[in-house]
Amino acid sequence: MSVIYNPTDQTITLNTKNTSYQMKVGPLGYLVHTYYGPHIDTDASYCMVFRDRGFSPNPYDAKLDRTISPDTMPMEYPCDGSGDYRATAVSIKRPNGVVKCDFRYDGHSVVPGKYSLPGLPAVYVENEEAETLVVTLKDKYSDIEVILQYGIIPELDVITRTAKIQNNTEENIILNNAASGCIDMMSGEWDLVHFYGRHAGERAFGRTEIGQREILVGSRRGTSSHHENPFVILAERDTAEMHGACIGMSLLYSGAFSCNAGGDAFGGVRAVMGIQPEHFDYPLAPGESFQAPELALAYSADGFTKLSHIFHKLIANNICRGPWKNKRRPVLINNWEATQMNFDGEKILSIARKAADLGVEMMVLDDGWFGARNDDYAGLGDWVVNTEKLGCTMGELADQIRAMGMKFGIWIEPEMVNEDSDLFREHPEWAMRVPGTDPVIARNQLVLDYSRKDVVDYVFDQIAKVLDECKADYVKMDMNRPLSDMYTAVSDCQSRGKLQYEYVLGVYRFMEKLLERYPDLLFEGCSGGGGRFDAGMLYYSPQIWCSDNTDAIDRIRIQYGTSFGYPIRTMGAHVSAVPNYDTWRKTPLHTRAVVAMEGTFGYELDLNLISDEEKKEVPEQIETFKKYWNLLHNGLYYRLTDVMKNHQEAAWMMVAEDGSEALVNIVKLNTTGNCPNRYIRCAGLTPGATYINEATGDIYSANALMTIGIPMPRVMRPGTFWWSNAGEYDAFQIHLCRV
Ligand code: DGJ
Repeated sequence: MSVIYNPTDQTITLNTKNTSYQMKVGPLGYLVHTYYGPHIDTDASYCMVFRDRGFSPNPYDAKLDRTISPDTMPMEYPCDGSGDYRATAVSIKRPNGVVKCDFRYDGHSVVPGKYSLPGLPAVYVENEEAETLVVTLKDKYSDIEVILQYGIIPELDVITRTAKIQNNTEENIILNNAASGCIDMMSGEWDLVHFYGRHAGERAFGRTEIGQREILVGSRRGTSSHHENPFVILAERDTAEMHGACIGMSLLYSGAFSCNAGGDAFGGVRAVMGIQPEHFDYPLAPGESFQAPELALAYSADGFTKLSHIFHKLIANNICRGPWKNKRRPVLINNWEATQMNFDGEKILSIARKAADLGVEMMVLDDGWFGARNDDYAGLGDWVVNTEKLGCTMGELADQIRAMGMKFGIWIEPEMVNEDSDLFREHPEWAMRVPGTDPVIARNQLVLDYSRKDVVDYVFDQIAKVLDECKADYVKMDMNRPLSDMYTAVSDCQSRGKLQYEYVLGVYRFMEKLLERYPDLLFEGCSGGGGRFDAGMLYYSPQIWCSDNTDAIDRIRIQYGTSFGYPIRTMGAHVSAVPNYDTWRKTPLHTRAVVAMEGTFGYELDLNLISDEEKKEVPEQIETFKKYWNLLHNGLYYRLTDVMKNHQEAAWMMVAEDGSEALVNIVKLNTTGNCPNRYIRCAGLTPGATYINEATGDIYSANALMTIGIPMPRVMRPGTFWWSNAGEYDAFQIHLCRV
């Protein structure tokens, strides 16, 4: 049993394999959070300090006891208006504008299995045991209820949570906040680790001391965004890869979100995470409810690596779905960087032909195949194949590509419309625009009103006709602008928060329909690269295009940041041409392949245009990927260098779970003449064992590899007779087998 209720002290303890999470019905029925950490089996509320704290007010029913204050207690789901002045999880406005609720424990139950959330992504279990805890809180003054659900999956060391706000009153109320969860730590010096960035520069590792202030990270863009990721870590000050306490929080949601992490006046730290509360004004009529998205939590006492391993397994096995989640994905070639929209059928076939020749397994036709889409000013919304441009139907193109022995896939961007499109001319009211104002424009496109079922269904039917025709094996679903102009033509209610939330539900509906109709489809998410790289999206697509930045050196940093919360098999990564279109950097083909293998692995260039020598390399790279695929995608992943600080070399490795083999990947970032010795310290090998370097036959002690490391490999340059330093951007893969 993973949920233990102790009626004597009224604690509810959620136990996973290595952790305990405890809440308790505290003074006056407040649900307090008493513990999250390594296993415990007693009441941890002795850690709560009750004192009369000036300016931390008391509930009226505390009477003369001035030590009870929601402002100083660690709260499980803190409420605005109750006298808690820290960031709260729920804020409700009554019809007269009053904000005052005070939620107290009303009861709980335990249900076998893990709950699911209709219309929203949620962690699921297949073979693992799980339990669901449901706790009901009730407002002291009204019939508004908060229903907290917790999913406990002991084997995975994961606890999920969500909250439903139920309006059982006779009044219309407005939800101004309804977070998914809150973590209140009573002590400790905590940092917030977050993953920030920009288009073509996603998920940089950022670490900020929380101290005595609130730190807000999140997105107001209607999508999870390139700019902050809905995965964050609370880490104790000395926590590093292999040691220290940390708590990961991953929100399964692809819309605007927020994480507020703050230190309070008495040494506690609180992190509230969920939908973006800024301008959230969700109306709830009598009988209606709001379901917050799911938040997945994990605690590691042994640093970031262990935490990443928990999230990697969770996402790979219990969030991603479908037949591809555990299968090797076909090595694909995508024409985007080779042609952009400037192609015809013959050009696509010539790219495909050479790719097939060199061993590539799938051709993906990117943007530009439909309507009047020859640049990004027109055509979005018109999902009708441009047969004139292709010189054939999509079915015929697919047949020709399949005749080369490859699978075939296409790109779509179903949420968008150009003003210059037949769809917009016919249905201008389907694009979100605020009447009487000019819409905010981005990439010259507008956003379709995905809060409307008729819009979602129409676009789906158009796209389905094309997918049926070409029997697509793969779809890349893109989304190339943030939301703005939140307005729907079908309702008087223009609540920005409600529309944004329902927009996201509409996107999820679209994707669910796609998966239902095409159960074997390989689905890749995308939003201008990695602008919607989140655990919610991964419930629908087992991989997401990681970034529009395909420069191998920049990608190392992007994939490094992404790897903290997401497994590498979810990261769309391709070898592209040099000089890179964005950075103008030149890296060897080998290096680009080593970096792309830290992802789904594919190509994004015209292979006709590479040198003959490089053409020989491509089939070898594909063979290498196939040989190591199991290790790359199912092995335990270790970050060996901190790429935010170490600008000399980057290294990462994958180790088979049983320690029998490992693949060490090293890229030299920067070099100098007569270079001092540098070592790459390995991790995760079987202590005390001996490993052999498969290529050289060199024998190493695992302990030495994990204590000193492997010396930075040297290189014999063509035409020389001596070993030289690894040069800038040289890459190495070292396969180690346990003897
Ligand atoms: C943005 C994507 O990230 C690119 O890979 C490409 O598909 C373009 N959109 C097409 O418009």
